Amino acid sequence: MSLADEILSVRNIYKVFGPQPKLAMDMLGQGADKNEIFNKTGQVVGVFDATFSVMRGEIFVIMGLSGSGKSTMVRLFNRLIEPTSGTIHLNGKEITGLSDEALLDVRRKDMSMVFQSFALMPHMSVLDNAAFGLEVSGVGQEERHARARDALKQVGLTGHEYSYPHQLSGGMQQRVGLARALANDPAILLMDEAFSALDPLIRSEMQGELIRLQAEQHRTIIFISHDIEEAIRIGHRIAIMEGGRVVQIGSPQELLCNPVNDYVRAFFKGFDASKILRAGDVARISDEYPRHDDRARPTLRADSPLQDVLHIVANEPHPVAVLDKQGVFKGTISKSQLLQTMSRHS
Ligand SMILES: Nc1ncnc2c1ncn2[C@@H]1O[C@H](COP(=O)(O)OP(=O)(O)OP(=O)(O)O)[C@@H](O)[C@H]1O
Ligand SMILES: [Mg+2]
Repeated sequence: MSLADEILSVRNIYKVFGPQPKLAMDMLGQGADKNEIFNKTGQVVGVFDATFSVMRGEIFVIMGLSGSGKSTMVRLFNRLIEPTSGTIHLNGKEITGLSDEALLDVRRKDMSMVFQSFALMPHMSVLDNAAFGLEVSGVGQEERHARARDALKQVGLTGHEYSYPHQLSGGMQQRVGLARALANDPAILLMDEAFSALDPLIRSEMQGELIRLQAEQHRTIIFISHDIEEAIRIGHRIAIMEGGRVVQIGSPQELLCNPVNDYVRAFFKGFDASKILRAGDVARISDEYPRHDDRARPTLRADSPLQDVLHIVANEPHPVAVLDKQGVFKGTISKSQLLQTMSRHS
């Protein structure tokens, strides 16, 4: 991806909660960590020196334990929270330092947020709830209802326009919350634990829905989760936060194969690695490479999910060759490599 694809650029962002942020910043500069600062000064470091970019059209997941700074981070993006220092650019335009009026415009057009608690108005119909963000922005009734209907259609709620929230299941209520955000047609959709309150089955259904929507619309989505299965399923890239810091960013495969520390590794503990690894992630160049003239032997495609090729490797007496799309040799997978990979992550 080139830099031109960057939609959100976060540079050296800090957020300290408390009346003496400068004191905390000085201590951070001298190498103190979040706990030390809290114990000595009572200031809470919410986000600490975050620098990264979100690319246009990706689902960027922010993951971390409770209190690691995920919600603070997204609230910094739409400036519900002011950063203590650092800059954020949206589409090349600096949003840190915007006037209140310009900021309202950003919230209206560029970023919409979907919350965990669906935040629906009980006395308003589904249609009016979906149109509520537009109403707040001063869009006339005819247009906002048309856009809300379209958004409700996108989330599969056509026919429920005149129901009230209490008549809907939790999953349907969250769809209304999603429709409200989509009705704004935002450049970036911010979702803070948006599916966490849902039953597992409904939650999985909503994840599928989000993946479908994103594939159709190529919308940029920043999604907070503390569930690794969810992060891996929907995230193109995952940022892992620990104690206010972003400690690692990468694809699920990168994080799984090369975790920077035990904190990152722990998230993947017990996760079935074959679900996300591809043959190419496991292939190694070795002396054991089978003779190339042996055409009767199976070969594997580098982009095949490991899960789908386990049985091939298991049933072959020799390591199996892995080729990329162009047929170029990438290495082999042996039974012992397979065992190692699977046990390393269990
Ligand atoms: N308004 C605030 N005032 C003081 N401290 C705050 C405030 N908001 C957040 N914090 C602190 O900042 C840190 C990060 O909180 P944040 O809500 O961003 O965590 P989180 O990763 O979203 O957690 P969770 O998974 O529980 O939602 C925590 O230590 C929290 O106590
Ligand atoms: Mg949170």
